[in-house]
Amino acid sequence: MGKITIQDILALKGKRKITMLTAYDYPLASLIDRSGIDLILVGDSVANVVLGLESTTQVGMSEMLHHAKAVTRAVKQALVIGDMPYESYQINIDESVKNARRFINEAKCDAVKLEWFAQCLEVTEKIIKAGIPVMGHIGLTPQTADKIGGFKVQGRDAQAAQRLIEQAVELEKLGCFAIVLECVPDRIAELITKKLKIPTIGIGAGINCDGQVLVTHDLLGLFERFKPKFVKQYINLSPLIQKAIEEYKKEVLAEKFPTAEHSFTIKEEELKKMQP
Ligand code: KIV
Repeated sequence: MGKITIQDILALKGKRKITMLTAYDYPLASLIDRSGIDLILVGDSVANVVLGLESTTQVGMSEMLHHAKAVTRAVKQALVIGDMPYESYQINIDESVKNARRFINEAKCDAVKLEWFAQCLEVTEKIIKAGIPVMGHIGLTPQTADKIGGFKVQGRDAQAAQRLIEQAVELEKLGCFAIVLECVPDRIAELITKKLKIPTIGIGAGINCDGQVLVTHDLLGLFERFKPKFVKQYINLSPLIQKAIEEYKKEVLAEKFPTAEHSFTIKEEELKKMQP
């Protein structure tokens, strides 16, 4: 199968669920791609789950491009989306098109994702007009969590829910190819999904979205600092990895590793030719 296109993603709405995961490096991107996941997001969640930072606003273009390049080197099939970091479009909106273009031209991503913020529509329009596919992101938007009451479910009263629906409709009108709904009541996510022609991708937004996304490190049990309610951990790799590392340490200290199996030899006659 060839590379998944934006048209393929649009055509999946109503046919089957769309799958999406995050990746930040070559080995995991490769495994995710070989598993047939449709969309890979080089998320700014790299800040939390890989770089040990508190906030996604602490990563910038250089970190995001560095990780995005590693991911696109691995991916043969999935559509790769570069997550625009806060500084790249919310601080100086005039820089947003140039930065979005860097994800496409330098990191070889297929699209970018932007979180909702006060000037989101203006920025989204500019980037789409520049010919770059955009995925929207509404509901809980971690880059501006301080402005929306913190890391909380969004759209829980009628007025706030109505606002989310309007945001989704506006983003669709501008030409976004899909929208992430993060931490939104399931019935509101369902309403948005039914109203839009483009796919919705849920994270903490219930079963009725057109697709689902998780942070891969959460799914694999590789991020131990905290676990949101919407995360399902499919395997807990952290203790397995720790056990393997402790085993290695024990064997090195006990001189059990490396054995001949993991060593290289030189012929006896070559050794004899050497000066003592
Ligand atoms: O950065 C990220 O991982 C995201 C997903 C949670 C959608 O934006």
